[in-house]
Amino acid sequence: MKRKIIIDCDPGIDDSLAIMMALSHPDIEVLGITIVAGNCPVEMGFSNAKKILKFMNRLDVPVFSGASQPLKRNYINALDTHGSDGLGESFLEEIEGYEQKEDAISFLSNTLKKEKCSIIAIGPLTNLALLLKKDKEAYDNIEQLISMGGNYKSHGNCSPVAEYNYWCDPDAASLVYNSGKKIHMVGLDVTRKIVLTPKRLDYMKKENPRVGNFVEKITKFYFQFHLEWEHLVGCVINDPLAIAYFIDPSICSGFESFVQIETKSLSIGQSIVDDHNFYRKQANAFICTQVNEEKFFNLFYDCLLRRIK
Ligand code: RIB
Ligand code: CA
Repeated sequence: MKRKIIIDCDPGIDDSLAIMMALSHPDIEVLGITIVAGNCPVEMGFSNAKKILKFMNRLDVPVFSGASQPLKRNYINALDTHGSDGLGESFLEEIEGYEQKEDAISFLSNTLKKEKCSIIAIGPLTNLALLLKKDKEAYDNIEQLISMGGNYKSHGNCSPVAEYNYWCDPDAASLVYNSGKKIHMVGLDVTRKIVLTPKRLDYMKKENPRVGNFVEKITKFYFQFHLEWEHLVGCVINDPLAIAYFIDPSICSGFESFVQIETKSLSIGQSIVDDHNFYRKQANAFICTQVNEEKFFNLFYDCLLRRIK
């Protein structure tokens, strides 16, 4: 039996690698892709998801547009990191048509009421917060909720203390963390260790030129960004780790804790992990704190290099 998932994302370069990984793994069935405003505006994310599906010859997978802005905050994109087209200025050909008859929230609501499936959320949590408000029964039907977002001891990437997905829409993240459903938080503490280096990219191009060259095309802008701003030779590919962790949870280790998301003030978007149980509250999250990089890349290569022709 394949494990069914919906990927809620803001594609986005690393989101795109996550989608490629999920579509190629034999044990996963992607029921649909829902788009949220984040790295790029929702219309751009919708178009970019179709470009990835086209590359994967998987235009059978439905894509649904979701929230075009955060619940309360003014929307701030991350095109400075992902390029003006949201895909590393690869300027891939637009895929015409393919409009869906329903929006992301109705798709999530209808699907979750029909069948159990997990949600891999790798963008701001706005769509999930809207689903929670609109249809708690469907939301409670989510089998496993994995969120790439937040940070425990690692510094932020949007402020000294906040990670982009939760900083972009802190009110949505706060609602989701207070929903009563446990979240697996794949945060910067672990994703920062997942670095696509020039050496790894060269290996990918040698092993599977079609995929390797495509990955190079959509990540070259991202390499430049990391060199300039993080003084890193390579690029942190956050989102594929959420997929890998869903496939093989042993890739990450961590602990259960009560987490709150700051929605105001200087530290807006910070995921506050109560690791010393000050608040005496029941744990609402599993915090990933360690990752086996080698295990990740073996799985990443297996999916992208050996299962995509
Ligand atoms: O902070 C990194 C996260 O924000 C990743 O999911 C990236 O794609 C952006 O959405
Ligand atoms: Ca993302």
